[in-house]
Amino acid sequence: MPQKKPIKKPSKPKKAPVRAKAAALAPPAAPLAAVSKPPEVLQPVKGMRDILPGEESLWYLIKKKAEELVRAFGYGAIETPILEHKALFVRGVGETTDLVHKEMYCFKDQGGDEVCLRPEGTAAICRAYINHGMLNLPQPVKLWYFGPFFRREKPQSGRYRQFHQWSVEVIGDAHPVLDAEVISVAMAFFHELELPVVVEVNSIGCQQCRNAYKEELLKFYHPKQELLCETCKVRLQANRLRLLDCKEAQCELLKEGAPQITDFLCEACREHFMRVLEYLEETSIAYTLNPYIVRGLDYYNRTVFEIFSGAEPQKAAPAQPAAPTQGEGVEMAPEQPEGEKAAAGRIALGGGGRYDGLVEQLGGRPTPAVGFSLGLERIATYLKASGKLSGMPPTARIFIAQLGEAARRKALSLWHALYRDVPVAAALSKDGLKAQLEIANRLAVRYAIIIGQKEVLDQTAIIRDMEAGIQEVVDYNKVIPEIKKKLGV
Ligand code: HAM
Repeated sequence: MPQKKPIKKPSKPKKAPVRAKAAALAPPAAPLAAVSKPPEVLQPVKGMRDILPGEESLWYLIKKKAEELVRAFGYGAIETPILEHKALFVRGVGETTDLVHKEMYCFKDQGGDEVCLRPEGTAAICRAYINHGMLNLPQPVKLWYFGPFFRREKPQSGRYRQFHQWSVEVIGDAHPVLDAEVISVAMAFFHELELPVVVEVNSIGCQQCRNAYKEELLKFYHPKQELLCETCKVRLQANRLRLLDCKEAQCELLKEGAPQITDFLCEACREHFMRVLEYLEETSIAYTLNPYIVRGLDYYNRTVFEIFSGAEPQKAAPAQPAAPTQGEGVEMAPEQPEGEKAAAGRIALGGGGRYDGLVEQLGGRPTPAVGFSLGLERIATYLKASGKLSGMPPTARIFIAQLGEAARRKALSLWHALYRDVPVAAALSKDGLKAQLEIANRLAVRYAIIIGQKEVLDQTAIIRDMEAGIQEVVDYNKVIPEIKKKLGV
């Protein structure tokens, strides 16, 4: 009988001496200085920033209030792409506006399309309204959205190159009550956050009113043009309404005594504006008339408005134990962006107005619309400075500490059994009890559940009152009801 050959284990290849192997793999010797230089740490693009957990909880509160409000008022959520065709904003916002002329991030993509990072949302919403045949829905179509926007402006406090907005748009109806409705939604939002704000309202009429007004502005400014700043000298010809928006001291001074657009409104625009103001009075919204609000985007007509922080907020400590904050977080002192010093200490939180011609300008049927956008970074700054932070996201109330591998497994399953009823924290990768209890202390939890090797064997767990420093042993099966009883959940 043929003998079975014993299967021979393949002999392991002989290991080359480690040093010889390393030498073979090593790149050719480089000069000493080049080898020892650590790689450069990259920073975010100028004017753009990271939003870290400590600050994000403010955003959670802001977004939660905003979303609750718009859902209650019957608005539907919409999201549009961050990248759009450049032509959308050139046509929609206006070629001569600073935003289109100087501030867009545009590039040609690999297919040769001219695209840009969206600098604002309204034009894209109107594009979507046309693309999806929303004119066939019951009008007006009421939409809301959050999202990032990009403007290559001079970065300074409160002014970023990537920032975020919360916006609402009401498309398909020209009734003045809708102008009042959107203003009232914005004001209700600040009321919900307990932030005092001021809304300044104006009407810039229709094209016909503005033509007459622009003539009058020319008559007023022409004899004084040498006194204008260099930008406004150009604006006098190219974009005369923007003269009223300039924050250069000499232009501010000249503005006093300038004609006011409200004196040039046609009958229909005057009637519309009067009715908007009446509706605002009906909702008890305290507004201020500011005949010099013109807004920086070309699509507006009739009602325009801007919302400012009401009073300089006091610095205040956060009402909750601070979540671990990394890096810069939100600035405490709400500084005013240079270009928007409407009054010392005020923050320009948002703005909006009517844009009855935009849908048509983008190729749709004539469709009136009105909306607003609020700047989330600025609201977060104002909110933090005000200290009115009730409603922040829930933080952990319990910490699960474990000692030993069997306890670690039990801790993981206990965490899953508990998290729906109580926010729980743990540091499962840690081995030492001391280190875990230090974390529990830092998180300011009320109770820690401790499971060690003995507890695993005994089918028990320790519940430690972190404030009183007292602990008790409980049957493992009773840990959850016991902890819920203690927390009153
Ligand atoms: P906007 O006035 O250009 O309007 O922007 C609205 C708000 O966004 C500003 O009041 C400000 O709070 C915030 N914001 C603007 N630029 C920056 C920036 N560089 N950094 C930080 N925050 C900023 C619009 O965007 C229109 N789409 C509003 C609208 C909607 N009109 C009708 N519907």
